Amino acid sequence: MPRKIVVTSALPYANGPIHLGHLVEYLQTDIWVRFQKLCGNQCFYFCADDTHGTPVMISARAAGITPQELINNVHKEHKADFDAFHIEFDNYYSTHSPENRYFSELIFNRLNAAGSIVRRDVEQAYCESCKMSLPDRFIRGTCPKCHAEHQYGDSCEACGTTYRPSELINPYCATCRSTPVLKTSEHYFFRLGDYERQLKDMIAAGYTQASVANKLDEWFNAGLKDWDISRDGPYFGFNIPGEENKFFYVWLDAPIGYMASAKNYCDSHGLDFERLWPLSSEQAGDGYELYHFIGKDIMYFHALFWPAMLIGSGIKVANKLFVHGFLTVNGEKMSKSRGTFIKASTYIKHLDPEYLRYYYASKLSDTIDDIDLKTEDFINKINSDLVGKLANLASRSGKMLTKKLDSQLGRLDEGGHELIKILVAAAQKISSDYESLKYASVIRTVTALADQANRYVEQNQPWVTIKTDPEKTRTVLTAVINAVRVLTIYLKAVLPKYAERVEKFMNVENLDFSSLETVLEDHRINDFERLVERIEQEQVNAMIEESKDSQGGKPSATPSAEPLKPECTIEDFAKIDLRIAKVTKAEKVEGADKLLRLFLDVGGMEKTVMAGIATAYKPEDLTGKIVVLLANLKPRQMKFGLSEGMILASGEGGKDIFMLTADSGAKPGQTIH
Ligand code: 2FM
Ligand code: ZN
Repeated sequence: MPRKIVVTSALPYANGPIHLGHLVEYLQTDIWVRFQKLCGNQCFYFCADDTHGTPVMISARAAGITPQELINNVHKEHKADFDAFHIEFDNYYSTHSPENRYFSELIFNRLNAAGSIVRRDVEQAYCESCKMSLPDRFIRGTCPKCHAEHQYGDSCEACGTTYRPSELINPYCATCRSTPVLKTSEHYFFRLGDYERQLKDMIAAGYTQASVANKLDEWFNAGLKDWDISRDGPYFGFNIPGEENKFFYVWLDAPIGYMASAKNYCDSHGLDFERLWPLSSEQAGDGYELYHFIGKDIMYFHALFWPAMLIGSGIKVANKLFVHGFLTVNGEKMSKSRGTFIKASTYIKHLDPEYLRYYYASKLSDTIDDIDLKTEDFINKINSDLVGKLANLASRSGKMLTKKLDSQLGRLDEGGHELIKILVAAAQKISSDYESLKYASVIRTVTALADQANRYVEQNQPWVTIKTDPEKTRTVLTAVINAVRVLTIYLKAVLPKYAERVEKFMNVENLDFSSLETVLEDHRINDFERLVERIEQEQVNAMIEESKDSQGGKPSATPSAEPLKPECTIEDFAKIDLRIAKVTKAEKVEGADKLLRLFLDVGGMEKTVMAGIATAYKPEDLTGKIVVLLANLKPRQMKFGLSEGMILASGEGGKDIFMLTADSGAKPGQTIH
């Protein structure tokens, strides 16, 4: 009987692009799902964008669009990235959906009825100018330990200390720079501890890998704390039933998004959702297995909160959680400055997505160890294994058959049968390795088999026998083509497009595990087309170069530059009078090392300005320069004289000060719009 399986991957946040780190998980899951389908099992793969929360709200605000517009745009981008990497969801949905609201309310109400929701007052940082409470990442200030400035509310990037936002020196709102106040507000909490017994039993019964279970033990020992599941408005999310200005915390409705995506799929495909994912213990369902794939950073949510929410509301819990490690590149964390923070959309401009599918597969196992993308190893694995061993088998035999032997396969002789038998005998090991996520082992087995098939070619020397004994050559090449066929079935979950090209050239359809033992004899093949190209070092270099300084995955709401000042309106801006000015003379200011006195011609009007640019400019170099002046700034009486405006400049200070200079065609006095 075919199995019935539902699979999910963690939902990516809707405020940043998909990068190679994300793809570890989506490729791991997609390969598993494709493998199940190739075995004839029914397997649905559901995912969605994780759309709610403060970062999305702030990013939308910064971009001048609504959160709904932002998440619509990001949904399209994410879907395009996943499609490009051949990640085949049965449904890619959104947590901002009616199904998700329905299930979030259902679960909340059931937990409430079970007595697992309590209310308590909490103190939280609040920005009076933004009119919102500030999560840790939206407060900045000076680190209480090393005094580095502009650090986040939860940890210091300079010295690594973690602390509470209230410990920051001179805290400020990361969005508008004003000083937050502390406010008391009533929040909803989920009593996680109520489910400790069931969670422990579930984990003891094999809900996660052993290494994850060890980590969970630490959390159990530390004690399960109540979980704050509410946020005060403004917040992009679902209103808590009966509340006007309180919302479900994004992490409450995010995993419920798995159900929402499944429900949305069922409704549009004539399936009964509750038979797939029973909503109460009285419902038998149709025996679907349920698996979640996640990264090790979100174990707490998926091994504790999420199953506890489901247990508390009587809904089916996953059979198993598959947890993977992070991606490092050349042994280090992905980094924008090194160009190793690579977006999916950047990768795709330079390299074939199947290289990455193959490479990740060759590194992935069932552990939570990180996997390392070593660029040299990456190039080498593709060129020597995928191109040199696997594709080469097909190209050597395919070309000779089409060019010299009328594209016609013959029959296997004893040696050929022997070779194919060895290859087919590996099926069980390969299947069990796929099933238990040991993809690296699958790739090792397949390359060892390809070595064996290549040895068969070497021994039989078809390029020699073709001149003397074409029929013997046909027999040998028939065996090689059959070997390619078996190896392609083994790799099809990893390389679906490569497999399609093989199917086309072999003139066969839908290779899968059930057709493993079929032998192609007396069969006509099609013209050979190249299956995969070699990677050139330059392609990888170009991808890395393009990734330097690109936005990467961080939301624009958490810039590394100084945070923005409070918003100004167009009316505020209209008060500013920017004018072209010409420096007629510049001189040092006695007693002030950093200042220069500039005499400016502003189209017949003369102004004198004290500019703090002496560390970067010599006065004699400035005469005749065309600059931009904030001309209607209220004159300031300084110790060294009157300053009647400001010159626009940027830079860090010292030698790094850069005056904004205008084109020499600009006329003094002209207004800048
Ligand atoms: O960590 C993350 O990227 C989250 N957006 C994952 C959510 S998974 C699920 F719970 F929705
Ligand atoms: Zn603010």
